[in-house]
Amino acid sequence: MLEIEAIKTSVFESLESNVRSYCRSFPTQFSYAKGALLQDEHKREYIDFLMGAGALNYGHNNDYIKEQVIKYISNDGIIQGLDMYTNAKEAFIQQMNDTMLKPKELKYKFMFCGPTGTNAVEAALKLARNYTKRTRVFAFMGGYHGMTLGGLSVTSNASHRNASGVELNNVTFIPYEDGYINNFDALDYMESLLKDTHSGISKPAAVIVETVQAEGGVYVASEAWLVRLREICNKHGILLICDDIQVGCGRTGTFFSFERATIQPDIVVLSKSLSGYGFPMSMLLLKPELDIWKPAEHNGTFRGFQLAFVGAKAALEYYQNFNLEQTMVAKSKVIEHVLKNEIAAMHPDIRIRGIGMIWGIDFAKFQESDITGKITQRCFEKGLLIESTGRKGAVIKLLPALVIEDALLDKALDILKEAISWHVQQTVS
Ligand SMILES: Cc1ncc(COP(=O)(O)O)c(C=O)c1O
Repeated sequence: MLEIEAIKTSVFESLESNVRSYCRSFPTQFSYAKGALLQDEHKREYIDFLMGAGALNYGHNNDYIKEQVIKYISNDGIIQGLDMYTNAKEAFIQQMNDTMLKPKELKYKFMFCGPTGTNAVEAALKLARNYTKRTRVFAFMGGYHGMTLGGLSVTSNASHRNASGVELNNVTFIPYEDGYINNFDALDYMESLLKDTHSGISKPAAVIVETVQAEGGVYVASEAWLVRLREICNKHGILLICDDIQVGCGRTGTFFSFERATIQPDIVVLSKSLSGYGFPMSMLLLKPELDIWKPAEHNGTFRGFQLAFVGAKAALEYYQNFNLEQTMVAKSKVIEHVLKNEIAAMHPDIRIRGIGMIWGIDFAKFQESDITGKITQRCFEKGLLIESTGRKGAVIKLLPALVIEDALLDKALDILKEAISWHVQQTVS
């Protein structure tokens, strides 16, 4: 096992808040990043299966996007423009509309929120409530939508919710498909809440859903389930909000994660990889008839971060010019093959879930405590950054760059296999 050199932690430990978290799992100091690789101060390389929690789908310092960003900076393009009209914003809106919306017969207006995902979730909830004049929202058990009070109110994780310090009201949680409760038809239950005048639950303004619960433990909703959810929302006049913050921008194999179900949400929430380069950016796509906002009713200084628009336009070009949807297919199959045929074969209690370039290895049935912590630690020591997520952190989540080189993908999967087999053998023996 490699020794991880002691790092200069004094600045962080003495001055940075205790709230820091990823650094505890990966205790080294990073200084360089390219593509699917990170390097620390000691020039040790790590294959990155975190990718900024989904903010770096196109890799670290993507050359195509970088070139556009540098050109823009070199020309003294405006960097901060509030929500004024700018060339960079116009170019992004045009590109997105022409390449990702119109060809898919999607008709949405753009609302920029800033700068994090949770800010856009706030805007989506506000809009749904103001439009329908209803207060309740339905969310799903296992769902994750951010840390501000609105986002947190629709996030189910108790430890996150408990930190809010206030009641998080007006939300009803419904089990997710194939989630924590087996053999339970969550949508039947949801419909009965809506139909039964004695359900005690008022009709919601919106249902907020992730088509794949990423933080929740990589649960992939089926197309049929998503279609039925859309139908129920239509039938009862409820808005459907799709939070595509983590699994949008190509992660599941198509640009929008809901495309596979051929549904159209009323509001789409995007952030993370939208700007292509890791720049903060978030936005809503909203059906035109929902655009009842009064000027400045929702705003934010950093809606105007122009480098995010420049990066986002370049990212859309890159996505199409480099045929990411095609190149991802083979990579996804490699991951699926190794997980289902080699890793699942190591122990009957291992469960595999995933789609496209997001996969989960579920160890919830194991008795041993913190098995995923031990596996991810061993991966770190061997040069792979990977995290655990879901209830009790029992699921190892694979979130590689969509553009990871085949050789690096193979190497990362070898590290993962070795770490899992090592721990599984220990638990069995
Ligand atoms: C699905 C989903 N929604 C919302 C958020 C919150 O985004 P942010 O951390 O940028 O506020 C996240 C972050 O992981 C997410 O995965």
